[in-house]
Amino acid sequence: MRVLFVCLGNICRSPTAEGVLRHQLREAGLAGRVQVASAGTGDWHVGKAPDTRTQRAALLRGYDLSAQRAQQAVAEHFSQYDLILAMDHGNLGNLERLRPGHATAELDLFLRRYDGAVDEVPDPYYGGEQGFERVLDLIERACEGLVREIRGRL
Ligand code: 4NP
Repeated sequence: MRVLFVCLGNICRSPTAEGVLRHQLREAGLAGRVQVASAGTGDWHVGKAPDTRTQRAALLRGYDLSAQRAQQAVAEHFSQYDLILAMDHGNLGNLERLRPGHATAELDLFLRRYDGAVDEVPDPYYGGEQGFERVLDLIERACEGLVREIRGRL
């Protein structure tokens, strides 16, 4: 199974989700059976490592994001992944415009599918440190639901 997380810049929210899901899959013994990646709908940060504030907050919870590099979401991703999960409504709208007619990937809003209480992971880029903690809290919880779904689908 192949999962792609998508946000705007691919330096804060989606790299965090990639790192958290990888970690939870390892703990669940499913790491070898799932391919995990992330992308941004924008191209400003392509090739860059995650934002330093994102990396610091993640590392404090045990997630090392330092090897990740930003890429832009492209139409081909809709045939290369089974599940594409957007962080907010804006990202979802951008992906719907990018999705080719023959797309095979399932496209959904990450939190709507796995959380229920809130449906967006708020963009932390222009805010303070608390925003990065909130991103981690939301993503850790939703990834638990995603791991349960993956376990059921494999
Ligand atoms: P992300 O956060 O979408 O969670 O990676 C952002 C990063 C950069 C920008 C916006 C959001 N930016 O405008 O450069």
